Amino acid sequence: MKASSDNAPTANEPPILVRPSRDTDVEAMLSIYRRHIRRGIEDGVDESGMPGPDDLLDRRKNLRNHRLPHLVATIGGEVVGYAYIVLFRKRPAYRFTVKHSIYVHQDHRRRGVGRVLMQQLIDACAAAGYRQIIGYIDADNASSLAIHEKFGFSRVGLLPGVAHRHGRWADTVMVQRSLAAGSSEPPQPVSIFSGR
Ligand SMILES: CC(C)(COP(=O)(O)OP(=O)(O)OC[C@H]1O[C@@H](n2cnc3c(N)ncnc32)[C@H](O)[C@@H]1OP(=O)(O)O)[C@@H](O)C(=O)NCCC(=O)NCCS
Repeated sequence: MKASSDNAPTANEPPILVRPSRDTDVEAMLSIYRRHIRRGIEDGVDESGMPGPDDLLDRRKNLRNHRLPHLVATIGGEVVGYAYIVLFRKRPAYRFTVKHSIYVHQDHRRRGVGRVLMQQLIDACAAAGYRQIIGYIDADNASSLAIHEKFGFSRVGLLPGVAHRHGRWADTVMVQRSLAAGSSEPPQPVSIFSGR
């Protein structure tokens, strides 16, 4: 990862904008994702399981149908990051809890893209009526742990030895944050759950 000074935004730089993703963003999102995954797996691991454009198009359609936020961040029109949620579990009792993912392009890290994306994702989830948001983070992913802490996520679990990369077993940290009234008030009947 580049040092923060290399990536720091300049005064003349276009602003970071966040909007719902489009089908035309798929290639850019895939390239961000593939680069991240390649760094996380061991040499020699079969990459045939990597998602392709159709996988992402299907996922976007699915999320749109369920009205789950799927956002991209752009700078000067270039997609530099994305964030989305899926339901934490499919069973109806868990319908107010989501699990999120956030990825920023390697060359655009440490310049505020993650912060803007995370805030908009949280706001969109709260506005949609969700009450809890959960993330799974590699225990050695300092930047992800830091941004989640900054946004008020608590560490609620440790899953020891669930990943194997770079020749060793790695732990996963589970983080969680309340949205809106969290579990302090009963849920509102909202349209996202109306079975579309
Ligand atoms: C984690 C990630 C999304 C952060 O995005 P980013 O655009 O670089 O983050 P920002 O520049 O908006 O920084 C927001 C905060 O994150 C934390 N942070 C980001 N990079 C960091 C780093 N390298 N070291 C420590 N803290 C870091 C800081 O708290 C920072 O706040 P500050 O600038 O006030 O100190 C990005 O590094 C990334 O995409 N990583 C790879 C994918 C990933 O791990 N996703 C999360 C999976 S759960």
